[in-house]
Amino acid sequence: MPWERPANVPFPNVWWTFEAPDPDREDGALVTYRVEDLTEDRFDDAIKLYTEHFLDDEPLCSYGRVRHIPASYEEMLAFWHYLLSEKFTIVCYKEGSKEMVGANLLSVKMASDKHDVTDLIKTESMQKLVAVNEYMTDTVNLFERYGVDKYLTAYGLSVNSRYRGRGIATEILKARRPICRAFGLRLTSTNFTAIGSQIPAAKVGFKTDLEMQYDEFVKVNPTYTFDGIKSKSLKLMSLPIE
Ligand SMILES: CC(C)(COP(=O)(O)OP(=O)(O)OC[C@H]1O[C@@H](n2cnc3c(N)ncnc32)[C@H](O)[C@@H]1OP(=O)(O)O)[C@@H](O)C(=O)NCCC(=O)NCCS
Repeated sequence: MPWERPANVPFPNVWWTFEAPDPDREDGALVTYRVEDLTEDRFDDAIKLYTEHFLDDEPLCSYGRVRHIPASYEEMLAFWHYLLSEKFTIVCYKEGSKEMVGANLLSVKMASDKHDVTDLIKTESMQKLVAVNEYMTDTVNLFERYGVDKYLTAYGLSVNSRYRGRGIATEILKARRPICRAFGLRLTSTNFTAIGSQIPAAKVGFKTDLEMQYDEFVKVNPTYTFDGIKSKSLKLMSLPIE
């Protein structure tokens, strides 16, 4: 049974608000943004955000040419739709605007889970991406290391390219603390694939459990090659919640 959001946690809920520069204002003025639960009426916009502002930029998806391999692309869309249906995805909006500024595909992983959401992935190019992610979590064994039976994880942090470089990913990650507290979770952990998300994670207080240079994965399995990938390393990073 997948873990379910506690019934006493309101939905949709605003988890975090912050101020950051507005790309539509030349004077660099700060505006308010909010991070909240994604509602069903915006699922298509979330898929659009990931299709247009994640697929070609995120190092593993870009390396795996997911957009260009029809079966992998379909699989990725199905995977995203599954994650959205779990109702843990959070999105960021600028106050007074409906434009989707950013999002994070969240999910709860339980020690007792026999199956994982990544079981949905069958194509070769996508399985390699899943395999290296699993190598990270299996090597560390987060459940034992942190003494938890479940934790909040994520399968993609995306900021609309128009809004990048304004600290928005960092602020979206700050929502993990109030979410974990409301859900009664004592840990959040994620495989951060790019420097642009590893820096924000460290700023928010995530600590590195394991870092693997992409060119080191061939030592684990000769098929885990990442020649030319647009990132140096994959980092499994965790934030225990007090
Ligand atoms: C990664 C991503 C979410 C970052 O969003 P963002 O809102 O621009 O991030 P922030 O502004 O909060 O912080 C990014 C930090 O990384 C740094 N950074 C980004 N790219 C970098 C690079 N190539 N080299 C060095 N530092 C880099 C920025 O300078 C910034 O640090 P700073 O504030 O100390 O200057 C966004 O670029 C994105 O959606 N990328 C495509 C999808 C992706 O790769 N997601 C991450 C997968 S886990």
